[in-house]
Amino acid sequence: MCGIVGYIGKNSVKDILLDGLSELEYRGYDSAGIAVLQDSNFSIYKAVGKLENLKNKTKEFHPKGFSIGIGHTRWATHGKPTELNAHPHIGENSYVVHNGIIENYQELKQRLSTEGVHFLSQTDTEVIVHLFESHLKRLKSPLEAFRAALDELHGAYAILLITKSAPDTIFFAKNGSPMLIGLGKDEKHFASSDTPLIGLCKDVIYLYDGENGYLTSDAIEVFSKSYEKITPVHKALPTSKLSAQKEGYRFFMEKEIYEQSQVISDTLMGRLSKDTILFEELDEKLFEGINEIKLCACGTSYHSALAASYLFERFAKIRCSVEIASEFRYKEPMMSKDTLFVVISQSGETADTLETLKMAQAAGLKTLVICNVDNSSMVRAADASILTRAGIEKGVASTKAFATQMVVFWMLSLYLAKLRSSLTSAQLAEQILLLREIPATVVVSDDLHEKIRRLSKRYLHGHGFFFIGRDVFYPLALEGALKLKEISYLHAEGYPSGEMKHGPIALADPELFTIALMPVNLLYDKTKSNVEELSARDSTICAISAVAFDKADDFIQIKEHKHYMHEFFEMMVVLQLFSLEISVRLGNDVDMPRNLAKSVTVE
Ligand code: AGP
Repeated sequence: MCGIVGYIGKNSVKDILLDGLSELEYRGYDSAGIAVLQDSNFSIYKAVGKLENLKNKTKEFHPKGFSIGIGHTRWATHGKPTELNAHPHIGENSYVVHNGIIENYQELKQRLSTEGVHFLSQTDTEVIVHLFESHLKRLKSPLEAFRAALDELHGAYAILLITKSAPDTIFFAKNGSPMLIGLGKDEKHFASSDTPLIGLCKDVIYLYDGENGYLTSDAIEVFSKSYEKITPVHKALPTSKLSAQKEGYRFFMEKEIYEQSQVISDTLMGRLSKDTILFEELDEKLFEGINEIKLCACGTSYHSALAASYLFERFAKIRCSVEIASEFRYKEPMMSKDTLFVVISQSGETADTLETLKMAQAAGLKTLVICNVDNSSMVRAADASILTRAGIEKGVASTKAFATQMVVFWMLSLYLAKLRSSLTSAQLAEQILLLREIPATVVVSDDLHEKIRRLSKRYLHGHGFFFIGRDVFYPLALEGALKLKEISYLHAEGYPSGEMKHGPIALADPELFTIALMPVNLLYDKTKSNVEELSARDSTICAISAVAFDKADDFIQIKEHKHYMHEFFEMMVVLQLFSLEISVRLGNDVDMPRNLAKSVTVE
């Protein structure tokens, strides 16, 4: 949800800022902007829409020598995606970029307006720069003014501020939105994630909530929330950016679908023995006194949690409930200490999920996070973490992260089954053999992809899609519908197969497309009856199954598998490719669909 970069040094500031922003563009692409301060002069460029527009605007801008700069790519929250609302935001002599939401911006805006400040934008961010300048008039010291401004801000933020009153300095603050400092040779950087820094820096400093300070070419000063000096810890940064490139695929999403076999192998690696699941990162004490698991997440991660709840109850015989994080936050939930609170997040930064983690901790619950990003806010906050090892996921529509979450959940349900003696050694050994076979089930064959590509042309219209399934195939249906909505902009819903007759079947006609998940190894006959009910009402049916179904208009055949979880994983790939190919035919931006962002760090 917005990406920010900053730079101090002698190298090409414009290219460094723009390259950094292009790595962060998945976080928001409503507008982008940069501000460069050199020899006490500001150069400022902003453009609405994709970063490409900003690149075109800055073609003739070639700053040389020492400079400082900040940049931003925006996912609009307050105010439309216009140039005036694009960051950096200007004061009289300063510029600011911000990721997050300033919750009390309206009252601050009102007060500053009475002091004679004229606001140019509709954003919450603009108050930061005016607040700083208002304090600067009084306090004279830029650092004191920056701190006084921070003291008045409520909400989530990662902030970079540059000012003519300290022309070699970038002031920064982090609270609830991600930011890190990169340490290069004779230069320093800021970024919202580590990807833009790979290749530029060997070491980084991950900032924690409440931390703030300033950078100059010779100094890195980091302070706590109460402005006590901190000695920051330097951490090594990976050196290869290769895995973040498209490698010949048309889209990152496509590459990420094809990568699933590999990243699932990585996720399993070192974690399987003959009849035991090994999670080195877990201490068995975490599960002592635990009688219930509560899973909490948003979007795709919520769908993996919902599917996991079936596995926890079935294999580990433990009560399991699932919550949508944005709902859980305000429902005044009952939380009891015999519940293990588990959050699931690809990014580890989703604001709603992070907040529920904090709530559970405040209520004294033990917490675990299943996450794809090490050192993310959730990983740092939870009592324990399991990393999903999906690698950098760039497509806004999550694919390989979901796949690896499901693998971790399957493993975790077996890990608990062992602890709780709810499965025998023989049963565990059998499950572990099945786990080992998942990488083979998600390999994309040319035939399958081609079949889906051809079929996709029949599904570009209609008045809606129903993805239906039972048991774990219900959350998979929800996920299939979400994928289609995100990148095709077609209306789609996921539904439990058996629930259609309780209302939605009224919509059935030839223009209603039913995508039926029909696993042979789980409740096949029950699902078949539900699909027949839809077929009888003339809904257009696309069946996904290992066996042909004579009432279907279209049929996507998966391989024959011996377990329903293998059918789950292969169908997952089918649904991902189905959405991808429909989106391609509709000419949409597959990797950066409209109105979305990869990491949702606002509530
Ligand atoms: C997935 O395709 C979506 N873009 C979205 O639903 C995402 O899963 C959700 O925002 C949660 O993100 P997280 O896993 O990073 O917490």
